[in-house]
Amino acid sequence: GIMREVMGIDIMEKKLRDILNLKEAVIVPGNSDESPWVKSELGKAAAARMKREWQGENIIAVTGGSTIAEVANMLTPATNGQNLLFVPARGGLGENVHNQANTIAAQMAHKTNASYKVLYVPDQVSDEAYQSFLKDPGIKEVFSLIKQANMVIHGIGDAMKMAERRKTPLENIKIIEEGHAVGEAFGYYFNENGEIVYKVRTVGIQLNDLKPIQSVIAVAGGTSKAKAISSYMKATPASTILITDEAAAIELIKG
Ligand code: F6P
Repeated sequence: GIMREVMGIDIMEKKLRDILNLKEAVIVPGNSDESPWVKSELGKAAAARMKREWQGENIIAVTGGSTIAEVANMLTPATNGQNLLFVPARGGLGENVHNQANTIAAQMAHKTNASYKVLYVPDQVSDEAYQSFLKDPGIKEVFSLIKQANMVIHGIGDAMKMAERRKTPLENIKIIEEGHAVGEAFGYYFNENGEIVYKVRTVGIQLNDLKPIQSVIAVAGGTSKAKAISSYMKATPASTILITDEAAAIELIKG
């Protein structure tokens, strides 16, 4: 693209880091809205960046989505001295099985020859059933592991697209729509200013838990996600490493 020729990718990365207040930005060429291989490149870049962070014992909390699924596909066996445990970042968010954090955590463990834990929290239950569910010792154990995570790898999505993909009940779609949500991550929906307009009730990592976590890596690309990325970065307390593509970066730099 023209902007890349004018600026160079490293200049774009610095600009993006400053605009979004990131710890670091990594940009891969292309537009993942248009070519599926760009999503694989995002996955590859994210997998490489993750591996660089690992030392000793690591608990890695992962979210769902097709982008993070690509990260899982691109991981390779951990090297000596890297101990890895993958856990889902949060309980059920309404995704189908391919896009679920549980599935992706298992796949990441498989690719790295490491371990994983799953969290089966039903999406739609009464408050009472939910509360008793949380008392289950097996579930409590996974919670406590999630709370000890030193790395989080997560996706970011367009708000309305995510609300629909999750088959969100109409009354909640209405709240998301009327709140002018543009972005979604971790089950939180954000407007342009980074304000939370709706949140899926589930357990695990909450937005405020991100701040002390050593490595928070977000992976999201495509022109269509520029607004979502910008809204989330205004909202998050984390100092984030963003892996994105050129198309999203150009939109974000244009502002
Ligand atoms: O539902 C999990 C999730 O990570 C969302 O938080 C995010 O909006 C979405 O998946 C991204 O999905 P995809 O990578 O398929 O665009």
